[in-house]
Amino acid sequence: DKAGHKHFMAKEIAEQPQVIGNAVKHYFGDSGQTISLPDGGIDFTGVDRLVMVACGTAYYACLTAKYWFEQIARLPVEVDVASEFRYREPPVTDRTVAVFVSQSGETADTLAALRYCRDKADRIVSVVNVAESSIARESDLALPILAGTEIGVASTKAFSCQLTVLLTLALEAGRQRGTLDEDRYESLVAALRGLPAVLGRALDNNAAAEELSLQIAEAQDILFLGRGLMYPLALEGALKMKEISYIHAEAYASGELKHGPIALIDKHVPVVVMAPRDALFDKTVSNMQEVMARGGKVLLISDLAGIEAAQDGVWRSIEMPSVDPLLTPILYALPAQLLAYHTAVAKGTDVDQPRNLAKSVTVE
Ligand code: M6R
Repeated sequence: DKAGHKHFMAKEIAEQPQVIGNAVKHYFGDSGQTISLPDGGIDFTGVDRLVMVACGTAYYACLTAKYWFEQIARLPVEVDVASEFRYREPPVTDRTVAVFVSQSGETADTLAALRYCRDKADRIVSVVNVAESSIARESDLALPILAGTEIGVASTKAFSCQLTVLLTLALEAGRQRGTLDEDRYESLVAALRGLPAVLGRALDNNAAAEELSLQIAEAQDILFLGRGLMYPLALEGALKMKEISYIHAEAYASGELKHGPIALIDKHVPVVVMAPRDALFDKTVSNMQEVMARGGKVLLISDLAGIEAAQDGVWRSIEMPSVDPLLTPILYALPAQLLAYHTAVAKGTDVDQPRNLAKSVTVE
């Protein structure tokens, strides 16, 4: 049932305020400040590092979480795609927490990576949508993301719910390790509780994304740029665009632009710049100006302060609500999804069942 939407993907994008609200309530309760985890939880104080392993969109959720765990909990994090991790035979010790992220819980490479860590890691944790899945069953601790059934092959609400649960875990790690002072912790929990309302406002950009997509649909190539927490999100935005619109899209860390990809820029290449007005904003804007100086067509996704400060010369902008900088990946996932969705609709592709792709990749 598409609940009045044209595609499951549209429905699943629209459900995000609600499912994220459910996830936050599940972990923090109606008004609590700390989270309760099943099966003995995770002791973040006795470990040296996390390894996080996944595929596709779930891998980008892990890359985002690396920034969170390192910043919030001062815990080193190694992230890898499961198909590389499993054959590399990387050292994993009993001072490592191994985290596997998977919507389906059945991805063959992720499951094999989990089994590789089985008798080596301190604890096997999974972050899954399907609670009865193989990955959930074979973990010491399976944390649900509570996104509800996701039918569209392009993952949307599962991604933002994965991010929500991973941020929650990073906050817990910061609390346990004493790296996050109490006021900051409480303000982040309050920000998480306020997120559904903010996401609802971000969905108001639906019409703007639809209108823009008519022009984006003409492109042969699209670049996505971001720094810090926006870099993994740029990767996710490019993946979403490729999967359903079949337009070639690449993402780069903004600072890498001048090390090669800037050679691609001309007036035919839309460049999507994701840049909330955070501590790295000015750096990203200077990269964006380098793109514009070469005729690149910039779509700036930022908050009001960011757009006011940097809109000179940009092709178009999408205005996002402001949130705590640590929460921006969850919020900025929405315009990335909406752009991909409307571009695919404009191109007339099979949005929910894109060619050559399967929802669950159970063979390697
Ligand atoms: O079920 P999983 O989360 O393990 O799936 C991982 C990837 O196959 C998946 O995220 C894929 O990249 C999606 N099509 C992304 O939209």
